[in-house]
Amino acid sequence: MTVLVTGATGTIGSELVRLLSGNGHLVRAFSRSAEKISALSLPGVEAFPGNFAEEDRLKAAHEGVEVLVLITPSAPDAADHARACIYAARLAGVRKVVRLSAIKAETGGPTENTRLHALTEAEIRESGMEHVFLRPNFFMQNLIMVAETIKAKGTFSFANGDGRTGLIDTRDVALCLRHCVESDRWNGAAHELTGPEAISLQEAAERLSALLGKPVRYDPVRPQDAHDFALTSGWGPWLAALLRDYGAAYSSGWGDFVTGHVEKITGQPARRFEDFAEDLLLPVLRT
Ligand SMILES: NC(=O)c1ccc[n+]([C@@H]2O[C@H](COP(=O)([O-])OP(=O)(O)OC[C@H]3O[C@@H](n4cnc5c(N)ncnc54)[C@H](OP(=O)(O)O)[C@@H]3O)[C@@H](O)[C@H]2O)c1
Repeated sequence: MTVLVTGATGTIGSELVRLLSGNGHLVRAFSRSAEKISALSLPGVEAFPGNFAEEDRLKAAHEGVEVLVLITPSAPDAADHARACIYAARLAGVRKVVRLSAIKAETGGPTENTRLHALTEAEIRESGMEHVFLRPNFFMQNLIMVAETIKAKGTFSFANGDGRTGLIDTRDVALCLRHCVESDRWNGAAHELTGPEAISLQEAAERLSALLGKPVRYDPVRPQDAHDFALTSGWGPWLAALLRDYGAAYSSGWGDFVTGHVEKITGQPARRFEDFAEDLLLPVLRT
């Protein structure tokens, strides 16, 4: 089957492209950097560099495609970019859209990202194309962003307070996406994806300390302080507000739930925090 993957060089997209290539699909990999896509260099993968803002390029990307896996980065124009893809997909006669959404996508949700995802989900429903939405909780892989600080200082910070969260390994998100590309069994619904348990980042730090054999401390920062730090660091007001609002939501227990949807969709249990740490985080911390 010919599958278009947008966001193909990102955390989830690159793993998904690898999984689809391994299962014999023809994959059209779409993102801006031709260099990064070519680096994927896998059998059956066609590098298709382009920008969501380039209408003609998007139209060409959708030609002959049966399933679109729609991944857009967290950004203020995410819904506009998604809308451009939905339009191009409809014109090209794409049969089905598999959408990487986010936890509890709702128009009244606590973050702008949550609300934009809800908007895109509604537009995909209205498009008339077959569809399925996957809504992951907080990625375990977000901890890789603070690996260098852990190495240097033995501490890390997020604005999530001590809220427990059903952290998920992005490899499981990619695996769910692959199954939803290959099967129509999960169509027409939104599936909230989590790991096997809800833990706080304090508990994550304790587990990392035990695995690493030296102390790792989680120092939560207040959501407003995370916002102010992001602003002074030049990350821009949109991202600053996103950090604040996600921090406040996760601190209040918004992400404190577990579903069995990874196992239901893939037939395999969701990876544990220890699996993620052993495979991906500890190798970085030990270098
Ligand atoms: N982080 C979390 O905890 C979490 C949890 C749940 C859901 N999510 C959702 O996950 C999604 C992000 O997935 P991810 O983390 O895998 O993404 P990512 O790593 O940020 O990758 C973004 C991808 O989009 C491409 N891209 C960026 N701007 C583009 C443009 N203008 N035109 C074409 N391609 C563009 C990038 O490649 P180039 O730069 O080369 O273009 C890259 O391939 C978001 O929708 C987010 O809401 C995140």
